[in-house]
Amino acid sequence: MVIMNNLKVQVTAKIPTTKQGSVIICGISKTPKELALISADLNLGVLTGQKLELLGVKANLESLTLIPGPLGSVIGLVGLDADLAPEDKLRQLGGVIARGCKEFSEVVIALPDLDGTAVLNLIEGFSLGLYDYTPYKSDAAKTMVKKLTVVSSAKVTAAALTEIQLVCQAVHVARDLVNQPANDLYPASFEAHAKKSVKGLPLSIETWDEKALVKGGFGGIAAVGAGSSRPPRLIKICYAPRGAKKHLALVGKGITFDTGGLSLKPAESMVGMKYDMTGAATVLQSVIAVAQLGVKTKVTGWICLAENMPSGTATRPNDVIKARNGKTIEVLNTDAEGRLVLADGLSAASEEHPDLIVDIATLTGAATIALGNRTAGLMGDDDAVELVKGAASETAEPVWHMPLPQELRPLLNSDIADIANVKIGNRAGGMLIGGLFLREFVGFEKKNPSKRISWAHLDIAGPSDNSSGPYGFTPKGATGTMVRTMVVLIKQLASKV
Ligand code: BES
Ligand code: MN
Ligand code: ZN
Repeated sequence: MVIMNNLKVQVTAKIPTTKQGSVIICGISKTPKELALISADLNLGVLTGQKLELLGVKANLESLTLIPGPLGSVIGLVGLDADLAPEDKLRQLGGVIARGCKEFSEVVIALPDLDGTAVLNLIEGFSLGLYDYTPYKSDAAKTMVKKLTVVSSAKVTAAALTEIQLVCQAVHVARDLVNQPANDLYPASFEAHAKKSVKGLPLSIETWDEKALVKGGFGGIAAVGAGSSRPPRLIKICYAPRGAKKHLALVGKGITFDTGGLSLKPAESMVGMKYDMTGAATVLQSVIAVAQLGVKTKVTGWICLAENMPSGTATRPNDVIKARNGKTIEVLNTDAEGRLVLADGLSAASEEHPDLIVDIATLTGAATIALGNRTAGLMGDDDAVELVKGAASETAEPVWHMPLPQELRPLLNSDIADIANVKIGNRAGGMLIGGLFLREFVGFEKKNPSKRISWAHLDIAGPSDNSSGPYGFTPKGATGTMVRTMVVLIKQLASKV
């Protein structure tokens, strides 16, 4: 038995006795003839001879039907049918069960023939699905479930369960940060949170305030933060374990609220812009998770925080600013602010010559037009893209490789500066132009100063926020996207020489 975030988790071959307050989960699958009950070897007398269809039972993955069971217990009939890879299906299934059974004190999952991997995937999905964001609700229902029992004869190690616990906790905190409204989460409060959360961990943290940013030549972060009464910050968080062979830099967009600045967004498009710091939360939580796990990869996180507000001190369209790498940028649209803060983050990350740079940003609305709300756009160098794709296929977080067409680059030519941040009036290929802009701030290898450091860019504007209903293990609101993928990427880098 392992305790995960107040949840006791037990894997046992013996089916526990049913009791009041517990729910026992069995599966439902559609056969050509009828709905079939798929369960461990249980005595489900109450279901004998019942036509499940008549009880409203369905076989699709999102469906969970609760019916009275013996001795005051409840039986949960969960649909198993979905067109998903087996690992992902079990994680999503775990999430469906968690969301539907939060208020029971014990959940028993009694599906047949679960091997070790299946058990771990179910537990991971269940933990991810248990999330609720309630600090601002005065009458929040408390999540009650205290114990999860998975029926299986597989041997599951305590270490494997602890790893799931740490990673799920990292995802939960990322969701918390993103869900927190921008009146309470702003650059300085994010900084305070980050400093507190690295205490006791093998992490070092360095921060720049608004004065240090100007002094240090971080003209992008300073310019985006210039309009707000709540000044910008840059956080560098470093995990450098002994014996690490590879060094990854993670750069996160942390716009704690994006009004668009003087290029103000229309009212409807502004709603949801508290999510514009998802990249920052992802970077912080990925670094914390791998430090807790002791993964042997050096990781430096660069968290670029600013609030994009219009005011008398705000950056204007046509202003020219200078990024940390010395390139000048003409700001033609203050709403294309993510690329300005990332220009500094990518430049600073490059100064340390890491083996790989990955940036994570809710960069463009165009990403959602191209790929919808669940798939992240992935751009960059082929080798870096392959690494991120490999990690994402393990977590089943959807990513799609998009091109960086060279012919679009001249659209960013400026009349007076090295580069402009947008092409006014151009709507074609918005996500790709964002990627092309960022590439200009990726530095060169130390060994080979004519070769750019290997780099990948994740545009997570779609998957960062789930504004429709919950599904699988994904709640409404902040999803915590890409934390798990970054953790897997960092683990995979540890085994590369
Ligand atoms: N934060 C937005 C991108 C965004 C839009 C994220 C919708 C999530 C949902 C970004 O800063 C932005 O405003 N981008 C502009 C870029 C444009 C001015 C080139 C956009 O997408 O309209
Ligand atoms: Mn914007
Ligand atoms: Zn933005």
